Order: sequence, then C-alpha cells, then structure tokens
Amino acid sequence: MRKSVRSKPTTTSIFPLYILCSLYVRIPTVSSGAVIMNTMISRRGPLLALAAVAEFFALTCLAATAAASGHAADRIVRLPGQPVVDFDMYSGYVTVEESAGRSLFYLLQEAPAEAQPAPLVLWLNGRPGCSSVAYGASEELGAFRIRPRGAGLFLNEYRWNKVANILFLDSPAGVGFSYTNTTSDLYTSGDNRTAHDSYTFLTKWFEKFPHYKYRDFYIAGESYAGHYVPELSQLVHRRNKGVEKPIINFKGFMVGNGLIDDYHDYLGTFEFWWNHGLVSDDTYRLLNDSCLHDSFVHPSPACDAAFNVSTEEQGNIDMYSVYTPTCNDTPSSSSSSASRRRPKGRYPWMTGSYDPCTEQYSTAYYNRRDVQTALHANVTGAIRASAMVAYGW
Ligand SMILES: *[C@@H]1O[C@H](CO)[C@@H](O)[C@H](O)[C@H]1NC(C)=O
Ligand SMILES: *[C@@H]1O[C@H](CO)[C@@H](O)[C@H](O)[C@H]1NC(C)=O
Ligand SMILES: *[C@@H]1O[C@H](CO)[C@@H](O)[C@H](O)[C@H]1NC(C)=O
Ligand SMILES: *[C@@H]1O[C@H](CO)[C@@H](O)[C@H](O)[C@H]1NC(C)=O
Ligand SMILES: *[C@@H]1O[C@H](CO)[C@@H](O)[C@H](O)[C@H]1NC(C)=O
Repeated sequence: MRKSVRSKPTTTSIFPLYILCSLYVRIPTVSSGAVIMNTMISRRGPLLALAAVAEFFALTCLAATAAASGHAADRIVRLPGQPVVDFDMYSGYVTVEESAGRSLFYLLQEAPAEAQPAPLVLWLNGRPGCSSVAYGASEELGAFRIRPRGAGLFLNEYRWNKVANILFLDSPAGVGFSYTNTTSDLYTSGDNRTAHDSYTFLTKWFEKFPHYKYRDFYIAGESYAGHYVPELSQLVHRRNKGVEKPIINFKGFMVGNGLIDDYHDYLGTFEFWWNHGLVSDDTYRLLNDSCLHDSFVHPSPACDAAFNVSTEEQGNIDMYSVYTPTCNDTPSSSSSSASRRRPKGRYPWMTGSYDPCTEQYSTAYYNRRDVQTALHANVTGAIRASAMVAYGW
C-alpha cells in the first residue's frame, strides 16, 4: 500500500512519505495556499488516422534536428559514491512547454550491453507528487540503493535494468527535479495535463534518443500511477492508431499497488489498520462511516477528522512498514546518537530488508550539489519544486 495512503493537505507530518514526496523542496518558492482545482481524466476522442499519419511524418522530419539536441550531453559519467557498473546512465531535462517554461527531468538506467536490445520501460511513481527518481530509482526497482546520510550508492540486487532499459520520469512539473517557471502551473496540475506533458516528453525524448525509436516500449508505475499509467497509455495508443510503424512502439502497461478505486482502497486500508490492531473497533467504524464514499484526493471534513482520530490512535508507526521500527528508532538512522545507543542486531528481522530510514538517505543524497551536478539537475538553480503540486489536483 506504499504511497497509496493519502496524506492530508493541511498537515505536514502525518506520514513520512510526505517529506520525500516534496523531496527537493527545502526552499519552497511558493507560499502555502489552498487552491483546489478539479481536473477530469481526458475524454479526448480518438484522432483520425490521417492526423496520426501526418504527425508520424512530422516527427520523422524532426529527426533531422536530433543531432543538435542529442543525448550525449546527458550521459552520466559517474554518480558520487557509485560502484563500478556494466551499464550506462543518462539524465537531464526535456522541455514540454516552452512558453510556460515547463521542463521534465528524467533518469535512464540502461540494461547491460549483453542484454540489448532490451525493451524500454517508463516508470512513474504516484501520490500525486512523488519523485520517480527519489522513490522508484533509489528505493525500489532502480540500479542503486543509497547509503546512510547519502554517503554513496550500492548496487540493488533486484534492479530491473538487468533486463530492461528503465526510464524514470519526475512528473508532473514541480515534482523532484522537474520544474516550471510559471508558478501557477503548480496549482493547476491534474491528470489531463500530466498525461499530455508526459506524452510530449516522450515524443521529444525519442528525438533525443533516436536509437530507442520502434523499440518495444512499456509504461509502468505504482500507487497514484494507477491514474497516470492508463491515462498516458490511452494517449499513446490513440496517437499510434492508424500508424503502421509507430515510433513509440507501445506494447503494454503495468500498475502495481494501483490507486484506481477510492472506495476499495479505503476499505482495504481501514481493514488492514483494524486487523493489525492499529485502530480500535470504534475508530474503524468511524473511518468506515466518514470516508468510504469520499474521494481519495478530495476528502470531506468529516473524513479528515476521522483520519485525525486514527492517526492519534496509531501513534508512532511507520504506515508503510508496520513490522519495522520507525526511522528514528532504528540503528541505521542517520541520527548518530541513536546508532550509538542501540546495539547492532537489535532488529535481526530487518537485515537485508526494508530500511525505514531510506527516505532520509535519498533526501540527503539528492540535495548534494555534487550529485545534482553529476545528474545535470538544477543546473541553473531554477528548480521550482513545490509540495503544492498535489493540492492543486
Ligand atoms: C487536456 O490537455 C490538453 C493539453 O493541455 C488540452 O488540449 C485538452 O483540451 C485537455 N482536455 C481536457 C478534457 O481538459
Ligand atoms: C526557466 O528559467 C531559468 C532561469 O531564468 C532558465 O534558465 C530556464 O531555461 C527556464 N526554463 C525553461 C524550460 O524555459
Ligand atoms: C466497514 O465496511 C465494510 C464494507 O461495508 C464492512 O464489511 C465492515 O464490516 C465495516 N466495518 C465496520 C466496523 O463498520
Ligand atoms: C486534523 O489535524 C490537523 C493537524 O492537527 C488540523 O490542522 C486539522 O484541522 C484537523 N482536521 C479536522 C477536520 O479536525
Ligand atoms: C539549486 O542550485 C542552487 C545553486 O545554483 C542552490 O542554491 C539550490 O539550493 C539548489 N536547489 C536545490 C533544491 O538543491
């Protein structure tokens, strides 16, 4: 259920994930506000085959200019504290809307040469507002895990780029290293623009990486990507319709732990809390009565109040890992006094498994200037990331 449990717009510390989902926002450039805007999922009708064909030729012509904006400059020579590896990485920006100054950040971790030509997989984290680079690439399926205090990287044994080229996209603008120079964009984000921006990103990205054109392509993600993934997939599918050999050779999509159905998501969450003894019978009933028919992104005040009651009752529990201690209690915490106090091996069941402090390591690592430089991120100091991005949904 990671990243599926909602956090509340008016508070800042209900779930640890909130902190990372506004990871690069130590210096917010936007003051908090409560601008709410509903955005509907795209109802765009299918394009005429003719239009799609025309677009195909237009894109083909654009290829001539690809050399000028090639991918070579985006190659990552080496990340600070990185072990020797047998695969290549690229990262950088693709501007998706010139007039607004909206630019999306990507990180590509390629498969090793002997696995090529491997498929290309786009990965999207959810919430909305979580960075795919900070979560997906650094704590989940990516090539590396981050060491305590952001001191360096080690290889993730379960990295997906053993068999596929994984393209992590920080989306929408305002998340992770992706930014917009138009502050109001942060309040008017939503499913539709996210899908269209992501589509624009893809078409421009393929011009930058022409050797990935026509490659088997998949879209994958988790949590709120239960919205992003099918919506972007629909757009790609529709634009591909009638095109004999589409550049974006879309083969399929995959969603893990998807937020798709608010009712059942709430139902399962509350039942989980209750049958793990985290909330009382009364609170379980209260949550049931107050939230079950609410929207996940726009809960009612009554549901908000019920969540407050349950949060209070749950106490200091890591919602995403109820069997491990919370970060501040663990020996691997970046708090060195905690590490000194607690003997190693106190939590043997944690060895080699989930480290509840992993979010702190990511925060530390990606805020390092040398890391940002190696990633070609924040080159102009123009990051306009904001925790507000989720609240304008
Ligand atoms: C979705 O976004 C696109 C691009 O920004 C826009 O052209 C279209 O009108 C939007 N559709 C809806 C239903 O808002
Ligand atoms: C955003 O503004 C910065 C600072 O003026 C500029 O360097 C950058 O190119 C702009 N980004 C886009 C996508 O226009
Ligand atoms: C919560 O709602 C579900 C679905 O209606 C029901 O099965 C369950 O018994 C309810 N639990 C409580 C304590 O109300
Ligand atoms: C829930 O708790 C937060 C933080 O304490 C508070 O700001 C908010 O008003 C509460 N909501 C309700 C409905 O009580
Ligand atoms: C981006 O870079 C500027 C310096 O160019 C720095 O002041 C700022 O803190 C950086 N932003 C983040 C979020 O690290």
